[in-house]
Amino acid sequence: MIKNDLFLRACKKQPVERTPVWIMRQAGRYLPEYRAVREKADFLTMCRTPELAAEVTIQPVDIIGVDAAIIFSDILVIPEAMGMELEMIESKGPVFHHPVRTDEDGAVLKQIDPAKDLKYVMDAVTLAKRELSGRVPLIGFSGSPWTLLTYMVEGSGMKNFSVVKKLMYNNPLLAHKILDKLAVTVADYLSAKIEAGADAVQIFDTWGGLLSPEDYKEFSLSYISKIISLIKRKQQPVIVFSKGVHQSLEELASSGADVVGLDWTIDIGTVRKTIGEKVALQGNMDPTLLYAPDEKIRDEVKRILGAYGSGSGHVFNLGHGILPDVEPEKAKALVQFVKDESKAFHRKVAEAQRE
Ligand code: CP3
Repeated sequence: MIKNDLFLRACKKQPVERTPVWIMRQAGRYLPEYRAVREKADFLTMCRTPELAAEVTIQPVDIIGVDAAIIFSDILVIPEAMGMELEMIESKGPVFHHPVRTDEDGAVLKQIDPAKDLKYVMDAVTLAKRELSGRVPLIGFSGSPWTLLTYMVEGSGMKNFSVVKKLMYNNPLLAHKILDKLAVTVADYLSAKIEAGADAVQIFDTWGGLLSPEDYKEFSLSYISKIISLIKRKQQPVIVFSKGVHQSLEELASSGADVVGLDWTIDIGTVRKTIGEKVALQGNMDPTLLYAPDEKIRDEVKRILGAYGSGSGHVFNLGHGILPDVEPEKAKALVQFVKDESKAFHRKVAEAQRE
């Protein structure tokens, strides 16, 4: 039993008393409590140690007051398990020392069984779920095949994403072969996370917006749809966050996703009018608004809640991950503003419950 299931109800557009809120990348460096754990262990060790992963997963629930936890891990553990050596370099981000460029590179990628080869992630999910003891739902996640391919091919320090684009246009057969392998792997991975206790899953398609609408359908969306059709689940909702894909939101809403995540460059009310019948929406405050004074944050929260309007089907979030130099107090303020200001948009539900 989950005590606060507002997030799950909103994902399914069931009535809620207020709009639920969580923050992408909420388990991260902006929290001093995260940095304290991170001082004792490097990033990948944290990912591989269920006790540490569970600890930082729960921190934002305790400290920030979010309505959902997201398991601490990274999208790049999949390519790593497939045999690609991964290093997280403090100032540079992730680095694959031997990126995929040729048919031979593609051929040596291991076919993995996520339940076994990424068992440490499943153990972290099970442990975090136990330690949450039903306070809020736990979200599992994966990168989309396209976003994973981008990192696997570029390796590091992406400039114009020219390396992955070259591969896509010069060797589309190889691109599709790897994307398909990733799609099956991601579906198994998310199914295993659900089996281990995840209450919902999110697919991060961070680099979907690099593609033209036609290429987006061919190289990203088709694999996202395939994943959703393959995931073994009961009621667990699937959220797809595809950044910068304005022209393809209607297609995305037909992917089988329950929730579509929006970045901050589009009006959530306008999107609701087109796809709001089909899916719930997640988002979409500009992450840099957390550098603004509290009153400005409150105004923006009100604006976004007002743009979505009355009724369920909105999960409040940022339009991309929280930045590492944001003050935790700002994240706390954001969550409190959503909790306070959103009740007015669900009054009928609140009244019915009081009666
Ligand atoms: O949301 C959460 O709190 C759960 C944990 C989570 C992390 N990464 C932890 C992390 C999630 C959901 C991710 C997803 C992820 N990882 C994405 C998709 C979302 C997005 O932001 O676009 C991507 C593209 C990655 C790849 C990745 N991992 C990059 C580019 C970097 C370096 C840049 C950065 O933001 O630090 C990482 C490292 C990473 N993943 C950190 C954390 C907390 C920081 C590492 C550290 O502590 O040193």
